[in-house]
Amino acid sequence: MRVEEISTWVEDAQKAFASATDLDSLKAARLAHAGDKSPIALASRGLGSLSPDDKASFGKVIGEAKAAIAQSLADATAVLEAERDRKVLLEEVVDITLPVNRSHRGGLHPISIIKNEVSDFFIEQGFAVEEGPELESGWLNFDALNIPADHPARTMQDTFFIEPVESGMVLRTHTSPVQIRTMLTQQPPIYVVCPGRTFRADELDATHSPVFHQVEGLVIDKGITMAHLKGTLDNFARHMFGPDVTTRLRPSFFPFTEPSAEVDIFFNNRWIEWGGCGMVNPKVLATCGIDTDVYSGFAFGMGLERTLMVRHGITDMHDIVEGDLRFTRQFGVGL
Ligand code: FA5
Ligand code: MG
Repeated sequence: MRVEEISTWVEDAQKAFASATDLDSLKAARLAHAGDKSPIALASRGLGSLSPDDKASFGKVIGEAKAAIAQSLADATAVLEAERDRKVLLEEVVDITLPVNRSHRGGLHPISIIKNEVSDFFIEQGFAVEEGPELESGWLNFDALNIPADHPARTMQDTFFIEPVESGMVLRTHTSPVQIRTMLTQQPPIYVVCPGRTFRADELDATHSPVFHQVEGLVIDKGITMAHLKGTLDNFARHMFGPDVTTRLRPSFFPFTEPSAEVDIFFNNRWIEWGGCGMVNPKVLATCGIDTDVYSGFAFGMGLERTLMVRHGITDMHDIVEGDLRFTRQFGVGL
């Protein structure tokens, strides 16, 4: 063993570590130049068989050589580890600005969302939900509701009649026939809401649509008064529009309620009609076989498009009926 030889091992080791390009090749270099079978390790193990003098002088040189090799290994390791970490950060980075392929899940139309919300609100108070057909008999849509044959609502102008006209069938012009269907099949006490689609020969404009939605409410019980109606509607309005909503009852006329009122809501600096209401006309109760000496009741019918428009500040009915997803999506998925 010569001292020059030992310094060659150190140089070889340093060169090998420095030229390693990644941690794997550094590992191979470490095994070759600093491992159990490396020249420096073998020389170190052979020290025991040297004479005491040689042992002292070679021991010192080998010790320094081992330290130099260890140091250059540590340096190379630090460099390569830093490089690996940098690479990982680069390779695994997520570019949150990249455009993504968004596929939209289907969602409910805002009218369906609000219809469900209204139903839930009344279900919580013990009401049942009833639905009637959109294709309705004229008798249920008009006569049973005390709307006489010469009432303007029955003219061709307002009502979609079904051919042949002798069939007596119409597209229901309001949800009120569901009141009759309910009273004909159920005994009081009756607490129901009836949301559904209704049809009128109205032009599509900012506040009207020929196809729209109403929610009917009907309560028949002992001792029901106008105060119950007003309380119910105020609660309903607060639920839909928030605690600060201002409502008013305006005297009106419907053949099937007496007295009757229209419910207005203050919106966009003016009063907008939300729906109609009143105490169920005893004539209608009698038609349905309900004892008017025992029972009284109230009913109301609100426009759901109006509800949506007031609540969300929608100023044009076209947005609700045209089905533009840019409008609909603002209301969430609502499934
Ligand atoms: C009625 O339809 C009565 N059946 C309401 C009622 C029920 C009164 C129970 C008493 C007791 P009216 O025609 O006013 O009433 O319509 C009620 C609401 O439906 C209106 O206030 C409005 O909010 C909505 N509405 C009516 N026509 C349209 C339309 N063409 N487009 C959108 N909403 C409408
Ligand atoms: Mg009206």
